[in-house]
Amino acid sequence: MSHTTTAIRASFFDFTGVAEDPEEIMARARYIEDGVLLIEAGRVVALYAWDALAQRPDNLLDMRGKLIVPGFVDTHIHYPQTEMIGAYGEQLLEWLNQYTFPVESQYHCADHAAAMSAFFLQQLLANGTTSALVFGTVHPQSVDALFSAAETIDMRIIAGKVMMDRHAPDALLETPEQSYADTRALIERWHGRGRLSYALTPRFAPTSTSALLAKVQQLRQEFPDVWLHTHLSENPQEVAWVRSLFPQREGYLDVYHHYQLTGRRSLFAHCLHLEDHEWQCLHETDSAIAFCPTSNLFLGSGLFNLKRSWQQGVRIGIGTDVGAGTTFNMLQTLGEAYKVGQLQQYRLSAAEAFYHATLGGAHALDQHDYIGNFAPGKEADFVVIDPAVSPLQRLRIGNSQAIWERLFVLMTLGDDRNIAQTWVNGRRVWSRDAAAC
Ligand code: GUN
Ligand code: ZN
Repeated sequence: MSHTTTAIRASFFDFTGVAEDPEEIMARARYIEDGVLLIEAGRVVALYAWDALAQRPDNLLDMRGKLIVPGFVDTHIHYPQTEMIGAYGEQLLEWLNQYTFPVESQYHCADHAAAMSAFFLQQLLANGTTSALVFGTVHPQSVDALFSAAETIDMRIIAGKVMMDRHAPDALLETPEQSYADTRALIERWHGRGRLSYALTPRFAPTSTSALLAKVQQLRQEFPDVWLHTHLSENPQEVAWVRSLFPQREGYLDVYHHYQLTGRRSLFAHCLHLEDHEWQCLHETDSAIAFCPTSNLFLGSGLFNLKRSWQQGVRIGIGTDVGAGTTFNMLQTLGEAYKVGQLQQYRLSAAEAFYHATLGGAHALDQHDYIGNFAPGKEADFVVIDPAVSPLQRLRIGNSQAIWERLFVLMTLGDDRNIAQTWVNGRRVWSRDAAAC
């Protein structure tokens, strides 16, 4: 069967390989001012400098003036919390009780879940995010709805139903046995279907009994290639509560580690108040972290120590953590990550920021063989960025020469207006111009 090749002419920026430290990121950065991306059957065939082409390709889309980067990877987000983003006044534990649990209770209704799944995925695409690791609610139908909608668009999504059996309203609680059975059925239905994957999703230690965590462990043993997605050490009161609930464990992370829930495909959101031995455990088990700057600032949870994650050799990705996070937009999220660094004398470069949002995030999710850059054979997920869309942006970009400065201006002043198009698996699935009609 022959496939049509699509060629796109624009500026391109990506990273040619994963990095062990910030200096290596610079070495792996690739900027092609005038390039052409060839895609066929949903995959990247090649990325060339325009001048290196022997002949003008057929099916050429001329996007000169635009900057194309790999699709953003959001490593931690809650789709059912879309409708409660920006809830006033509380920190984590009160925020969960007052706002989160009531909203999540609505997802027993499959129609509501379907409507919100469609809305959520459109928000991701409108912000240039092509892959995400997503929390559902405790209801299996919440995850059926999300996966069905993602399958239609052919997005690379990892998701799971929340597992929880205490410290939440009765309507959101399940028994460990029910949690096991529902989760198992979802894994069998969705894991590995097209571009979809399953993540075991115990909400966090305080809403889990030992019996529930033992069921999560059993599922992980039965399905060793599924992901594990949870929260860890986000808020000081939460950390103290975990210590009182699990006095026999050595700390918060040890609750998960004891049930063998650490590992290469384990993703822990936040990690703001870790002890030295917990950093060490994350490193030794090759577990990864989702750094969620807007959420951490919004809930007053604390400052993530990015420098420490490099020193400890722990992979990290960026999470928006909507709805504790305040935007779906990765450019804005990177701007907030920069400010979190500033408060700790850590200088987050534009190169490092875009690395975490693309290939680094894919690496944190163990998906870097499929997505994250323009290497031949990768799935063609990318975002077409309009570098300047307002008088202020045009003024500021006009004063910027180097790509680093232009990227930094984007993460400081940019937002969803800068996302011109989003492509998934070689197909344009979102366009700002079409959305404006
Ligand atoms: N910890 C447990 N559940 C949640 C949640 O929904 N959001 C955040 N930010 N932290 C949590
Ligand atoms: Zn979260």
